[in-house]
Amino acid sequence: MAMSVVLEGVGLVKRFGPTVALGGVGLALGRGEALAIMGPSGSGKSTLLHCLAGIMKPDAGEVRLLGERIDTLGERRRSELRRTRFGFVFQFGQLLPELPAEENVALPLMLGGLSRGDAVRRAREWFGPLGLGGMEGRRPGELSGGQAQRVAIARALVTGPAVIFADEPTGALDQGTGHDTMNLLVEATKHNGASLVVVTHDLQVARWCDRVVEVRDGQVIPGAAPEMIGATG
Ligand SMILES: Nc1ncnc2c1ncn2[C@@H]1O[C@H](COP(=O)(O)OP(=O)(O)OP(=O)(O)O)[C@@H](O)[C@H]1O
Ligand SMILES: [Mg+2]
Repeated sequence: MAMSVVLEGVGLVKRFGPTVALGGVGLALGRGEALAIMGPSGSGKSTLLHCLAGIMKPDAGEVRLLGERIDTLGERRRSELRRTRFGFVFQFGQLLPELPAEENVALPLMLGGLSRGDAVRRAREWFGPLGLGGMEGRRPGELSGGQAQRVAIARALVTGPAVIFADEPTGALDQGTGHDTMNLLVEATKHNGASLVVVTHDLQVARWCDRVVEVRDGQVIPGAAPEMIGATG
């Protein structure tokens, strides 16, 4: 099936001193596609995600968003791009502890120039659908780990980004809560027409995605079809 490409990495190389974190990686993400990245610790998963997301500049290769190169942009343009076209969900500690949940979600909208009142109104609409009704005024320290990650999901999606990047987003949660949260992340991303790149060690999470690739020693190798993963266990 032909799928239009949203984000593409071509020949990505990234070195840290003598370490070759990425050794010439190519990867294309389809519109609306949920892609899981798996692989051993230190294999280059986070480096790949950071290069694709414009957080890190590759030493060689290209990253294209809807056909336009983003790796050659300056830091200011890439930072603007991350704020407007991408959403991020990381492991924990990404919410500002002194702000109520609704303002944490509203923050990217305010950074985009929306008034505080409008931004908070828009932010509040996410709480019910994500099972967070009544939590709008709580600070992150007054939320459970799973609730805090759902607030982070709302914050990632509130600007209507093209791509959501998630690096081990449920690594700090117990398995049940982690699965609920990941399921919600995949569903909410799809529902909003965004694509998803998620780094995970969890086979169950990978099975919810449309495609899995494995990173080994800085190379991407196509993984098994998600529905085949863990089929026996
Ligand atoms: N800032 C850095 N400075 C030096 N080496 C780095 C840096 N970031 C990553 N590396 C090295 O690059 C390689 C890939 O790291 P990366 O963080 O991408 O791995 P990973 O697959 O995300 O691992 P994990 O599953 O443990 O998060 C590793 O050998 C790591 O030590
Ligand atoms: Mg990592």
